Amino acid sequence: MIILGIESSCDETACGIMADDQKILAHVVDSQIDIHRAYGGVVPEIASRRHIETIFPVVNTALDQSGLTLDDIDVMSVTAGPGLIGCLLIGLNFVKAISLVRGIPFVGVDHMAGHLLSVFLSDTKPQFPFVAIVASGGHSSIFYAKSYTDFELLGRTRDDAAGEAFDKVAKLLGLPYPGGPEISKESLNGDPGSIKFPRSWLDKGSFDFSFSGLKTSVANTIHKIDQMTAGKRADICASFQEAVVDVLSAKAVQAAKFKDCQQVVLAGGVAANPRLRDLLGKRCRSAGLDLAMPPLEYCTDNGAMICVAGYHQFNQKGESPLDLDVYSRSPMIYRAID
Ligand code: KG4
Ligand code: ZN
Repeated sequence: MIILGIESSCDETACGIMADDQKILAHVVDSQIDIHRAYGGVVPEIASRRHIETIFPVVNTALDQSGLTLDDIDVMSVTAGPGLIGCLLIGLNFVKAISLVRGIPFVGVDHMAGHLLSVFLSDTKPQFPFVAIVASGGHSSIFYAKSYTDFELLGRTRDDAAGEAFDKVAKLLGLPYPGGPEISKESLNGDPGSIKFPRSWLDKGSFDFSFSGLKTSVANTIHKIDQMTAGKRADICASFQEAVVDVLSAKAVQAAKFKDCQQVVLAGGVAANPRLRDLLGKRCRSAGLDLAMPPLEYCTDNGAMICVAGYHQFNQKGESPLDLDVYSRSPMIYRAID
């Protein structure tokens, strides 16, 4: 089966093309980061307009890359949510229109499922069941993945997502958007033990997260500094990053032990953070657990991960109806806690 996957939930217009056994034939991402950087974050209306402009060229480039045409595509997969509604509508309606005109079935998939399953694009593929931590700009959640389509929520953020915390702290320090890569670069020159920022562990045994107190603590530290220097900024970045990755990695390992599970998966945009990959790797090794992570290019938003999620959803549940709507809150998280 050849599947074409489209992602447009936020500020990336992306298309992947995959042949059944997770063989990626095309992987094209048009990032809007340079456009939104001037505003310090994603401007939803600008993002939607940019998706309209880029979705045709992105899909055409992906088809060229794969050497295929629409005639070769068996199924299309598209992010139905969560994300920015205007942005999601561009991707979903694009796919619906092609489906109607060309008679190609489609599936609407959850963006979180895409991130979680992006690990299958790596050479070391995990076996079900596994514990997965998905940390991105919109979510930080821990799941117990039982199959390609069955994910039990173990914990989620009660306020800011991990990536959101990186972006907000970067803004406080005058660093450009998106903050995650900037903070990880700055951290290389800083001392992670120089400032003891608070870790929010929440109730005993809870796999939930909270990063807003940490963000406030960083803001207070910055306000007390008379003269910001490159050295002080690097120390703040390294200490803040350490506080985030400490909690994320500790809870992932605790969740694996709680579920008596041998394997841990790290995914989502924040999984591109080298210190998080390193610390979680060390903690998994000392706990005797195996860690699997997607390659860096599949950590942040992309169409290939939407192909993986769509492939399995189509095989197990069939195509989506033409009246499928987009959504801003993931049922993978909110159905479990509402
Ligand atoms: O998964 P993603 O591309 O989009 C969402 O679904 O949100 O994740 C984007 C988030 C941003 O908040 C960005 O700052 C963060 O991932 N991120 C990082 C790194 N690279 C991207 N956070 C920490 N360290 C990084 N190296
Ligand atoms: Zn994402």
